[in-house]
Amino acid sequence: MMICIPGVLDAGQLLDFRQQLEAAQWADGRGSAGYLAKQVKRNQQLPDEHPLGKQLGEVIVRALHRNPMFTSAALPLKILPPLFNRYESGHTYGRHVDGAIRPVGNTVHRIRTDLSATLFLSDPASYDGGELVINDTFGQRAVKLAAGDMVLYPGTSVHQVNPITRGQRLASFFWIQSMVREDHKRVLLYDLDRAIQQVAANAGNDSATASPATELAGVYHNLLRLWAEL
Ligand code: NI
Repeated sequence: MMICIPGVLDAGQLLDFRQQLEAAQWADGRGSAGYLAKQVKRNQQLPDEHPLGKQLGEVIVRALHRNPMFTSAALPLKILPPLFNRYESGHTYGRHVDGAIRPVGNTVHRIRTDLSATLFLSDPASYDGGELVINDTFGQRAVKLAAGDMVLYPGTSVHQVNPITRGQRLASFFWIQSMVREDHKRVLLYDLDRAIQQVAANAGNDSATASPATELAGVYHNLLRLWAEL
């Protein structure tokens, strides 16, 4: 499942992010790529342990914890500290797959990359190219979102970032280990959760018609109990 989550960051946060990232020291993105990805990766990144990256990453993680759509779609167990990249004219990231397991900063911990996330930080009118192109069971989709919006897609997908031909594209990217490893199970739970919200909203405060929502919520939680790994 690929899903776009609007408004993860607000206008004030975006302005602050862009100003701070503008003044930062960027490094060659190839430093963090595997040997296959290195051949197709041309961009810049904030080094993993950069204090600004850590500070802004915490703002993103706090925003995600408050976001019901993210919680319902990702069922997150662990969120890797967000990283930041910058693409300028001529930069691109050709077709690649993300590694299945990633270390968490300089710690001994690792996470399984069930889901990949890209949070767009630049106004899409300010640059040309730079679409994130995701290939998966749904076919090929090119994604270029408003600043502050985020795309969530299966970590199993082959994907690329189209070359930038004008301007600059700032983004945050990171991975999530989900409580539910398989994408198709997360899709079922997400669809069921949305249907329950609808049934509950239609029932309003009427306790007789609210009962089906309670029954369905029971099914949701029992499926989650069966499938969740903690
Ligand atoms: Ni990637």
